[in-house]
Amino acid sequence: MSVALDASLPALRAGAQEAMLQAYAPYSEFRVGAALLTESGAIVSGCNVENASYPAGICAERAALGAAVAAGHRRFTAVMIVSEASEPTPPCGICRQALVEFAPSLAVVSRTVGGSEARWTLDELLPRPFTPSSLQSR
Ligand code: THU
Repeated sequence: MSVALDASLPALRAGAQEAMLQAYAPYSEFRVGAALLTESGAIVSGCNVENASYPAGICAERAALGAAVAAGHRRFTAVMIVSEASEPTPPCGICRQALVEFAPSLAVVSRTVGGSEARWTLDELLPRPFTPSSLQSR
């Protein structure tokens, strides 16, 4: 049974905000934190980690996903994103693709440090995704 999103929002906001404060973003100076909510109610966070070789950097959402999978989680119901943008930002295309592997109808909540919040679903943000079943037509 999955844990209700609304009840988890305060903890998700806190997890993403705390992770954002750990972001390593000296090049873009755009700090991002993300917190994934697992079906069992656990929260796993990540932040963006940039690199002098720019393409080697990783977004907060995929950092959170990697940490969650490494901790044994594969079923997610929501991701909370906190960034320093003036408007809530949706996840980038690569992160949408990474997330859809595990949670096609994930709730995506994005927040500014000022407290504005927007909410989408992943299937709304990434229609017609490439998924594990796409490989079955080989
Ligand atoms: N970034 C994220 O962490 N998540 C997103 O969804 C969009 C972008 C990061 C990548 C890079 O470190 C910085 O924000 C600027 O693009």
